[in-house]
Amino acid sequence: IGLYLAGLGGELPAYPLTFAGLEAAAQAKMEHRLWDYVAGGAGDEHTQRANVAAFERWGILPRMLSGAAERDLSVELFGHRLPAPVLMAPIGVLGVMTDDGHGDLAAAAASASSGIPMIASTLMQDPLEEVAAALGDTPGFFQLYTPNDREVAESLVRRAEAAGFRGIVVTLDTWTLGFRPRDLQHATFPQLRGACLANYFSDPVFRSRLAASPEDDPGAATLHWAMTFGNPTLTWDDLAWLRDLTDLPLLLKGIGHPDDVRRAKDEGVDGIYCSNHGGRQAASAPALELLPAVVDAADGLPVLFDSGVRSGADVIKALALGATAVGIGRPYGYGAVLGGTAGIEFVLSCLLAEADLTMGLNGYAGIAELTREVLLRC
Ligand code: FNR
Repeated sequence: IGLYLAGLGGELPAYPLTFAGLEAAAQAKMEHRLWDYVAGGAGDEHTQRANVAAFERWGILPRMLSGAAERDLSVELFGHRLPAPVLMAPIGVLGVMTDDGHGDLAAAAASASSGIPMIASTLMQDPLEEVAAALGDTPGFFQLYTPNDREVAESLVRRAEAAGFRGIVVTLDTWTLGFRPRDLQHATFPQLRGACLANYFSDPVFRSRLAASPEDDPGAATLHWAMTFGNPTLTWDDLAWLRDLTDLPLLLKGIGHPDDVRRAKDEGVDGIYCSNHGGRQAASAPALELLPAVVDAADGLPVLFDSGVRSGADVIKALALGATAVGIGRPYGYGAVLGGTAGIEFVLSCLLAEADLTMGLNGYAGIAELTREVLLRC
């Protein structure tokens, strides 16, 4: 309503209102190789296009005269009341997406002001302790890429606990990088390195593995990180170890097969995060198509979903398919590119306003009313 009222007075919105507009403006602002890293994906990128198309195949059935003038989008997640069922998905290189290199702190500030939780990536440029402090009263989650050195993994988890994060999201689909032609063609990675290794370079256990400090010999430290980061042999045994390590809620991100979901539940995991990494990792991995089966297999565990959410209507559709809450990735990343904290706040507020209006105009007053029967295959 604020936007409409401002528009009546002739004021233009500060940033584009649609994903397509955000994307075009962010592309125009970013160095082309960094842009390709952020916007690009696996293979011929049909996977990320399919993520968006999957949402377009659903319509929302309208109910009129239902008294949906007042809506409640708030939701409970691991004992926290969130203002809306939306989270900022982990983005590892937010640092290269803002003018000052502190994209992680910009996102944390937007999380603090909006109450929308941030899932902070292992691969942040700002150390996790600083990011956690900037979250204020908003609960934050720490995303773990489990290194192949267990003591380094444990150190990261302990630091996340001590910093006040309220849960650990273990990403499973990235034990090595996907086949991303845009990055391979441009040799982007050297440019990203400085933007994403702060949590390793500041880690006491990681540092103890090095002959010289990362400040004195960044090349050797980066090489050691490259040998530590990937964990191709990660198995359910490691998951049991991680489960024993922390009492924080533990979520698995990138898990999609119902059998894996059931196994995760048996192993004591607290939540499932259904995602194909925004089409950046395994080519042809489904995302939204998997959600109903994942929700059924999770059998009451909270299920987060991301990949392809571009609008408030998409949020409503994912909720109707059973998600407890929805992660957004690139849209808030582009907000960060365009305006740092203010840009992210703008993107989040538009997304939430659109979700709220879509729900209301279709006659639904509360999230509990959003069931699979609300959707029509179009
Ligand atoms: C990501 N994603 C991601 N996921 C994760 O678990 N850890 C990470 O460090 C990153 N880093 C990252 C960087 C960039 C530039 C992007 C675009 C994405 C994946 C992210 O959490 C999420 O799964 C997708 O972004 C969701 O898809 P959409 O919303 O971008 O379509």
